[in-house]
Amino acid sequence: MIRKLFRNAKIFTASDPGIPLTGKRLGEILHFERGAVFCQDGVIKAIGDEKDVEAPLSPRDVDVEVDCAGFCLIPGFVDPHTHMCFAKRREEEFILRMQGAEYLEILRRGGGILSSVRAVRAASEEELLSVTREHALSALEFGTTTLEIKSGYGLDTDTELKMLRVIDRVGRETPLDVVPTFLGAHAVPEEYAHDPDTYVDMLIEEMIPAVSDQGIARFCDVFCEKGVFSLEQSRRILVAAREAGLGVKIHADEVHDLGGAGLAAELSATSAEHLLAAGDVNLEAMANQGVMAVLLPATAYSLRKAYAPARKMIDYGVPVALATDCNPGSSYTESMPFVFGLAVLEMNLSVSEALAATTLNGAYAVGMAKQVGSLDVSKSADFLLLDGESPAILAYHAGVSPVVEVYKRAELVARN
Ligand code: NIG
Ligand code: FE
Repeated sequence: MIRKLFRNAKIFTASDPGIPLTGKRLGEILHFERGAVFCQDGVIKAIGDEKDVEAPLSPRDVDVEVDCAGFCLIPGFVDPHTHMCFAKRREEEFILRMQGAEYLEILRRGGGILSSVRAVRAASEEELLSVTREHALSALEFGTTTLEIKSGYGLDTDTELKMLRVIDRVGRETPLDVVPTFLGAHAVPEEYAHDPDTYVDMLIEEMIPAVSDQGIARFCDVFCEKGVFSLEQSRRILVAAREAGLGVKIHADEVHDLGGAGLAAELSATSAEHLLAAGDVNLEAMANQGVMAVLLPATAYSLRKAYAPARKMIDYGVPVALATDCNPGSSYTESMPFVFGLAVLEMNLSVSEALAATTLNGAYAVGMAKQVGSLDVSKSADFLLLDGESPAILAYHAGVSPVVEVYKRAELVARN
């Protein structure tokens, strides 16, 4: 047994009420100006003002003492939406987009997601693992300690399973907790371009059962978008996934309002993601069903689109989380500090709201809130030291990372 005391830290954390944070509660953050965390075998045993945490402890109760030197201490980030398992970057596509080419038009011409599919199909499992591991370790340096990674660049059963094995290995071979999501419905593969419904049939009859048999995905996601999967196709896929025991997520209303947010509410999905174009009635339906809105401001930034209406969602009572969407096309970043800054400066979240949305609500978005997301007793001791007085430094000190040290289960796993 190893008992560690982290003292002399300015602690800021959401406190977990057992449900996702909504409305006013999103901005209610605990703060201990001179705080301490006491951990046993990587689990939080006590947290609070330093004198209160230390009072019941005798020197014999502490194996290791860490003086946090007055740095700001916050929970590790939970990034609940990434596509960081890919084989090749798409820098030339970025240049085309900056010259005015539309993201969905590039996909329609066989580029975009489909060019990543060709690269992933051609890559060996080891090559794919090495690229994905690099991205995950970079995310860890930026303070992400729990990470969702989607498949979706295979679009055939074998390659989707190859991706999910790689994603599983990243979770076992790095310090991060990794949540795998099956996204076989990321695009219609070229071989089914003229018969998308047959691809949907194959997805339902072959891929979902294979994924669920192997037990290597926790969620199933669908890109519900004009020219990709229709609302009706998305519904069929997600109903089948739910019946196979997978949790349900939707890429909803990213570019066009197809009603994906409404489908998420209808299915009581765990989350609907993107939502740049979602309509008000469907957002209210999400609030009524408690469906998490996973917002991806780095995608709006990179696609040069209007940001999702986060303030309106919070007013409606929709639980809101933030994620990078790290992928080689629409958002190539693994930095949660960057996302935090965009949320505060471009979506008008308060610093406290952005902290809750990048930690505890992110954990709810991937079904991990019992383990991570806040510094509550009995959760994993996952936290960051920031070079600043408060989490505001994440938005204020732009374009750099104020993350000094990253702890996972009370172990130092990255230092900048
Ligand atoms: O979330 N929208 C669909 N999927 C990703 C982009 C994937 C890619 O371009 O490779 C997204 O934006
Ligand atoms: Fe995405």
